[in-house]
Amino acid sequence: MDFQKDSYGDELRLKAIEKFDLISDLEQLEQFKTELLGRKGSVTELIKNISTLPSDEKKDAGKNANLIKIFFQELIQEKYEQYQSNDGDSHQSIDLSLPGRRRFRGSFHPTTVVLREISRVFTEMGFDSAEGPEVELDEYNFQKLNIPLDHPARDMWNTLWVDTTNDSNLKPLLMRTHTSPMQIRLMEKQTPPIRIIVPGKTYRYEATDATHEWQFCQVEGLVIDKGITFAHLKSTLEEFAQKMFGQKRKARFRCDFFPFVEPGAEVSIDCFKCDEGGVCNVCGPSGWIEIMGAGMVHPEVLKGVGYDPEVYSGFAFGMGAERISMLKNGIDDVRLFYSNDLRFLKQFS
Ligand code: FA5
Repeated sequence: MDFQKDSYGDELRLKAIEKFDLISDLEQLEQFKTELLGRKGSVTELIKNISTLPSDEKKDAGKNANLIKIFFQELIQEKYEQYQSNDGDSHQSIDLSLPGRRRFRGSFHPTTVVLREISRVFTEMGFDSAEGPEVELDEYNFQKLNIPLDHPARDMWNTLWVDTTNDSNLKPLLMRTHTSPMQIRLMEKQTPPIRIIVPGKTYRYEATDATHEWQFCQVEGLVIDKGITFAHLKSTLEEFAQKMFGQKRKARFRCDFFPFVEPGAEVSIDCFKCDEGGVCNVCGPSGWIEIMGAGMVHPEVLKGVGYDPEVYSGFAFGMGAERISMLKNGIDDVRLFYSNDLRFLKQFS
């Protein structure tokens, strides 16, 4: 651009060029632009002042001021482009010592974590794994498990029924109250020996409290072969407890009633919270937390699937996955698992 020496604004132009030559990063360039071309910038002021000049000078001054404005606009733009294409001094504006931005990584839900851990322990003991339907027939959830239609034992499982009144062809359906119906489905399909676990969701029409959810997960276990005894059941579950909780926790077996096993047992682990003293809202305060029901598969159940109880015997168990996780991680309320509180969930990442 052709600038006349000592013409209107020439002094400002020369000083600005000196300043421009000292610019070393994007931030300084931005500041330079504002100081020159901003609302109160020196070139803006220069243009404004033209109105105060004598009329015969106005024309040349206007032309000159405009040239100065365009000159700096182009100069600044060029410098911007240099920074953007990394051609110029732009590397100076990037602080390579800054730590990188951490990417947000999701994590497994605590129930998934514990289900995988339980599965790993049983897989190490030679168990297979299977899954089954969550919407189940009454027949499998109750009847084939030795719980006939009018049997009071049904009251042990508060049931969420599926409304089938609109379709008379449908058999009574429900949200499975436990994973035990899979015992029947597996035995109907396979011949012994069977050694399998079934992890999955279960549902109950239940009031919630610190140890009861209306939807939770169970892991069913089933072992059928010739000569299986209660000693196998006890040693398998003791081994599980040791692998899962370490040597410190104690397991307790007490007689319990489940129509599909004989004898039946309730298995508990000593309460972790009571170790800390004070009033315990976890074990209630009995000192023990029930983690599973278990027992020897009832001869009637074996007969129902076509196995001869004189030849085959076996044991089964069903444990609450969340209760296992509570014990392992010192969680004192099962409702935390499904209340979607990220502060809780993030602790498992
Ligand atoms: C049963 O569901 C039997 N099917 C277990 C079984 C299987 C017995 C095979 C014999 C042979 P129970 O209702 O006790 O049993 O539940 C088993 C486990 O699920 C309990 O020990 C507990 O750990 C867990 N559980 C039960 N109800 C809830 C609930 N509302 N919320 C969270 N966990 C629960």
